[in-house]
Amino acid sequence: MTLKNKTLQLTIVVLSVVATVAACSEAGSNQSETKKEDITEFRQKEKDELVARGKYLVTVSGCNDCHSPKIMTPIGPVPDTTRLMSGYPSEKGIPTLSEALAKDQSWVKMSHDVTAFAGPWGMTFGANLTPDEATGIGNWTEEVFVKTIRTGKHLGQEGGRPVMPPMPWYMVAKMTDEDLSSVYHYLMSLPAISNRVPAPIPPNEIKVVK
Ligand code: HEC
Repeated sequence: MTLKNKTLQLTIVVLSVVATVAACSEAGSNQSETKKEDITEFRQKEKDELVARGKYLVTVSGCNDCHSPKIMTPIGPVPDTTRLMSGYPSEKGIPTLSEALAKDQSWVKMSHDVTAFAGPWGMTFGANLTPDEATGIGNWTEEVFVKTIRTGKHLGQEGGRPVMPPMPWYMVAKMTDEDLSSVYHYLMSLPAISNRVPAPIPPNEIKVVK
């Protein structure tokens, strides 16, 4: 073989190695892109399933009863679907009690739309559980949400203020971790509604009118 021929052969070998490496790395990157897409799709599907289960649990557990503003209908108050789980409607202001109602301690009182309550514990309001950051639970992590329900303490903080009646947190706390995670993901999927619900009012600070 002449020197010229040898050089030509070497060049061909080198070129074909380069081509093979290039083809392999292209195939490799395509593969990892497909994987990433698969994972994103899988995660999205997993999240959609959590949200759907959360919606089911919130619906059948009656959370809307106390946490959603209502529209009055012939069958009674039904949740206003335009602002689900947004709590006591703050545009109604702080409710007052008549002297007679305030004096009668044998009944628990509640507003027509079942979002404001007065009893021996004072006056309380269904919380805004939509993802609004300023007035809802938009800033809550899943951990904070689960801790609040499990401990009955606002924001799940040790020594924090108790979550007041009639919130049945001690019953909701019986949900499994997966169920509570589903409920959290559903709540975070709702439209964020800006609605600042009043803080609980101690019994002696309830406004009584003649
Ligand atoms: C009988 C009425 C009632 C029902 C039913 C109810 N809640 Fe509540 N919930 C309340 C009231 C009232 C408050 C506000 C208590 C307070 O201010 O301390 C509250 C507060 C909360 C809080 C704490 C908010 C905070 O800022 O600390 C969470 C979380 C919550 N509810 C979730 C739920 C979920 C989830 C369900 C359904 C599984 C549910 N609630 C069902 C009445 C209810």
